[in-house]
Amino acid sequence: MALPPQFLDELRARTPMHALVARKVRLQKSGRQWKGCCPFHGEKTPSFYVYDDGFHCFGCGAHGDAISFVMRSDGASFIEAVERLASEAGLEVPKPTPEMAAREARARDLHGVLDAAAAAFTRRLHLPEGRPALEYLRRRRLTDETIARFGLGWSGAGRGALAGDLRDLGIEPAQLVEAGLMQEREQATVDLFFNRVMFPIRDRRGRSISFGGRIMGDGQPKYINGPETALFSKRRQLYGLDLAREGVFRGARLVVVEGYMDVIALHQAGFNGAVAPLGTALTAEQLEALWAISPEPVLCFDGDAAGGRAAARAAEAALPLLAPERTLRIATLPAGQDPDELIGKAGPEAFQQRLEAAEPLARALFRLLGAGRPMLTPEERAGFRNRLTEAASLIPDKSLASEYRRALLEDFYAGSRRGAKPPKAVMARPLPGSNARAAQARALLACLLNHPWLLPEIEEPLGLLDLPEGPATQLCAALLEGLQSGWPLEPEPLHAALREHGATDALDWALTTPALPQGARPGAQPAEAADCFWHFFHWLRGRAPLLEDLAVAREDAATSWEENIRRVVLLKEALDAHGRGEIEGDQGR
Ligand code: UTP
Ligand code: MN
Repeated sequence: MALPPQFLDELRARTPMHALVARKVRLQKSGRQWKGCCPFHGEKTPSFYVYDDGFHCFGCGAHGDAISFVMRSDGASFIEAVERLASEAGLEVPKPTPEMAAREARARDLHGVLDAAAAAFTRRLHLPEGRPALEYLRRRRLTDETIARFGLGWSGAGRGALAGDLRDLGIEPAQLVEAGLMQEREQATVDLFFNRVMFPIRDRRGRSISFGGRIMGDGQPKYINGPETALFSKRRQLYGLDLAREGVFRGARLVVVEGYMDVIALHQAGFNGAVAPLGTALTAEQLEALWAISPEPVLCFDGDAAGGRAAARAAEAALPLLAPERTLRIATLPAGQDPDELIGKAGPEAFQQRLEAAEPLARALFRLLGAGRPMLTPEERAGFRNRLTEAASLIPDKSLASEYRRALLEDFYAGSRRGAKPPKAVMARPLPGSNARAAQARALLACLLNHPWLLPEIEEPLGLLDLPEGPATQLCAALLEGLQSGWPLEPEPLHAALREHGATDALDWALTTPALPQGARPGAQPAEAADCFWHFFHWLRGRAPLLEDLAVAREDAATSWEENIRRVVLLKEALDAHGRGEIEGDQGR
């Protein structure tokens, strides 16, 4: 019986694989998946793995989805298994209609047409007429094995070749139109692809669903792609997904790049998890397809300005879809090089390095949202801060959204400490004089004493602070030492440990800070406490970091734009004011 594929997809999506299998098999968590002893062959050590969308036994090779699991473990027929799962999922099994059966038969035929076309293109590539195309692919460093693995072909030099090849198989031009290989034009039906190197586009199961065709050498358009058809949807499919699924299953990283040639070059170089969208920006549907095979795909972007904009768009588009188990990393390539060129010029190690340096989404988002914006006036900084909190608020999962908010704001306040260039925190606030410094150090330490869980995260910056001599330096040293020796990161036990180590006076001094800001008080939320720490941290950074920032800004100004020069001028003024003791930072934010 023919059931609509959308229904079966929905059924699979609504069936929690782990819960289904757990009725028959004792499962334990193993990394992202679950494992247990295979129910289909006798074994004592677990080699049966359960994933979100299926199972696989490394012992006997049993492999399938929820439906096949029920079929095999209960001896059910396909339709029985579907009915059983559907009733549990609260879905109604659609009644088959003659139209549905007819549609399925047509789809089956359409796959047949596309496979026959792919075979015809491949055959032509290896005929004498395909020689230039084969040479072209070899010049682009593809091995014969890669050419075969990706099913690359040659369309034939002029129009009419394909229809001629397929007529012998009983395939009519009308079917070729339906398959997206020919077009109706006024009186005639004509080929879409001619004089092109052919790249079959395959679905996740490896069946041809459309083609991309590249002109050899320069010429426009460089690539043409098949139109939307019953089988092919640009929004949903990804080039290389069939091979990448298998690659990721075997441990490869899922990597999204821009072009067909990039995917092919990456697979050839051993990056077996590479895929690409089909000439458009990544869609929500494509992200879902990626997350179905990996919780953290890496998106690669060109390091130039346009690449940065594309990365920012992709990062923002992903936010409403994020969940703790569904995120992204962003890898940045050298400006003006795609992965194919990078591997060709600098070898696979160069790409590997970029992958390893891929940033978590939150960090990339911070950098991308700040890129190219001046961040000198309070208005500019407030605008940027708003963009950051707005971005975090796009995440539907409440706790994840608040973690993003916190991470983005920490970066915001810590910008210069981490060497993140664009948002310089330096100029936004007055520089503290000595009395104010003591009060600020006191509040910063009170904040840490009330929220000791911050300590591991801020260990390094805390160590760099130049605090006023006295209880502040004593406490700071004790805290850093305590962190090394594994003191408890809970307020009361930590305070007790400090007293034991002779820091009682300093502790009481900090805990009795007058007019303590809300964020430093015991009841503050973690995000508020972190904000508060970074607030005081920047007030306390003082003169030496200003000098460092000035040196960096001067260097930037020597090579680039106006804002940097403005930054130098402002930093210089701030330093002069600091020197004259004019700035007494004593008002809050
Ligand atoms: P690129 O021009 O970066 O492709 O476009 P590429 O893969 O690096 O191509 P080569 O190396 O010059 O052969 C990226 C993708 O955008 C789509 C294609 O999917 C291509 O792979 N594209 C590009 C088109 O659809 N049409 C075009 O004219 C150009
Ligand atoms: Mn390229």
